[in-house]
Amino acid sequence: MQKDLESILFDEEQIQQRIQELGKQLAVEYNEKNPLFICVLKGAVLFMADLIKRVDVPLEIDFMATSSYGDASKSSGVVRILKDLDRPVEGRHVVIVEDIVDSGLTLRYLRETLLHRKAASVKIVSLFDKPEGRQVDIEPDWFGFRVPNAFIVGYGLDYAERYRNLPYVGILKAEIYQES
Ligand code: PRP
Ligand code: MN
Ligand code: MG
Repeated sequence: MQKDLESILFDEEQIQQRIQELGKQLAVEYNEKNPLFICVLKGAVLFMADLIKRVDVPLEIDFMATSSYGDASKSSGVVRILKDLDRPVEGRHVVIVEDIVDSGLTLRYLRETLLHRKAASVKIVSLFDKPEGRQVDIEPDWFGFRVPNAFIVGYGLDYAERYRNLPYVGILKAEIYQES
């Protein structure tokens, strides 16, 4: 285990197993709809890559980058688009792929933006859900695991851009993000 972690919540095998189940559910829902899976960079990059391999129907992918946390451990409350989609979403069945829903601010902003651009439907799949963090009323349509109200990192999730490359997810030691 990485030394800055206090404990591991989900190991590589648990994560991959759950993603396989989610992929099957999404394949049923989106059969013959040619959905557009949108990866919310950077956090969702590992989940996106593993998930789409398990969704056994024709689909397209695109990427969007947002930031609400920057290097801080708490959300700034303001969501910024750092990179936009390459192509229009009008008339498309869109699936937003996220790593975690915490306050819900990022997803609310993204969903509103995509609906405003006239997507035919907008649904959300998030690997993790942290219901205790919620500040706005939004829920993922599918999620992998509920997580406690702790600072979690790994498998795409960062603290100050670190730990994204861990193949598992764990709780960061408080001393790490309280240092400065
Ligand atoms: C994190 C995470 C989600 C969002 C969840 O992204 O990856 O996108 O925050 O938090 P919220 O529900 O409170 O909005 P972040 O802004 O840190 O950017 P990153 O994905 O590049 O790490
Ligand atoms: Mn993110
Ligand atoms: Mg982040």
